[in-house]
Amino acid sequence: MKAVRFHAYGEIDVLRVEDVPRPSPGPGQVLVEVRAAGIQPGEVMIRRGARHGRWPATFPSGQGSDLAGVVVDLGPEVRGFAVGDEVLGYTHRRASHAEFVVVDDVNLVSRPQGLAWEVAGALYVAGTTAYATVFAVDPGPGDTVVVSGAAGGVGSLAVQLARRRGATVIGLAGERNHAWLKERGVVPVVYGEGVADRVREASGGQVDAFIDTFGDGYVDLAVELGVRPERINTIRDWQAAAKVGARTYGEGSAACAVVLGELARLAARGELEVPVARTYPLEQVRDAYRELEQGHTHGKIVLRP
Ligand SMILES: NC(=O)c1ccc[n+]([C@@H]2O[C@H](COP(=O)([O-])OP(=O)(O)OC[C@H]3O[C@@H](n4cnc5c(N)ncnc54)[C@H](OP(=O)(O)O)[C@@H]3O)[C@@H](O)[C@H]2O)c1
Repeated sequence: MKAVRFHAYGEIDVLRVEDVPRPSPGPGQVLVEVRAAGIQPGEVMIRRGARHGRWPATFPSGQGSDLAGVVVDLGPEVRGFAVGDEVLGYTHRRASHAEFVVVDDVNLVSRPQGLAWEVAGALYVAGTTAYATVFAVDPGPGDTVVVSGAAGGVGSLAVQLARRRGATVIGLAGERNHAWLKERGVVPVVYGEGVADRVREASGGQVDAFIDTFGDGYVDLAVELGVRPERINTIRDWQAAAKVGARTYGEGSAACAVVLGELARLAARGELEVPVARTYPLEQVRDAYRELEQGHTHGKIVLRP
């Protein structure tokens, strides 16, 4: 089967699509033929070796957590799934950017009717992370919450989940994303110099919570805006969070099939839009990361093996 591999830390050119043996499912595992698998900025950091201290790679390394596809084989003692089932889920073995992937049965849910493959395959990391960030700052009616990176993979879902809780949501984003945010009831504000004043104006001077998906000074901005540390959450700037006592809930805090399944149901019912910026064939994995690494993706980029 074809799978993405890299044999050393490095830039995009270390990524290859190679012929590798098809894996076999062990006890409690199924083999999924992948129809769609999202890509993440975190995979870029791992591939560059920038996360070696905490998440080292072993070579050759595969890639990919998100996945959606069809069950084609079962290991012993699998519960709840059969060959032919359409599923979405995740793996922590860096393996989903491939034609086939072995997945623990507890990390899968059935694909709800009507959920597009590319959406199902893009939901796990961004969805569970967005869910965790919103849980962390607990926005409700009467609250104003600011989200940085509001139109990105995580941010585009976090703004909608915060709106569902009845909060006023201010989304920091480039101008080309403002119409999309407005259509979802989010107040768009341009980032960059003077952003603090623009947020004060948009919020009437009262910001209750801050979800940072970008890093680079937004935790300090939240403090400057008067947000209490326990209502600031960052998924990027752990140092700043440690300094001020902000929260760092992310994927790991909500990594389970139950949260994924709930988000999938919302998306299938049209109550949560998962924007897919572009899909690429597996063979074009380098092009997919070239686009992602420009840092201005609206929603998700997805590989289609
Ligand atoms: N801790 C965790 O569990 C966890 C989980 C997932 C992701 N992450 C991290 O969270 C970050 C976001 O991930 P993602 O998948 O949402 O990324 P993404 O889809 O690449 O989105 C990045 C967004 O950043 C925005 N942006 C660019 N410059 C900005 C600026 N100066 N101020 C505010 N926003 C700016 C872009 O918006 P415009 O297009 O509007 O410019 C774009 O929408 C990444 O660093 C990722 O590694 C952490």
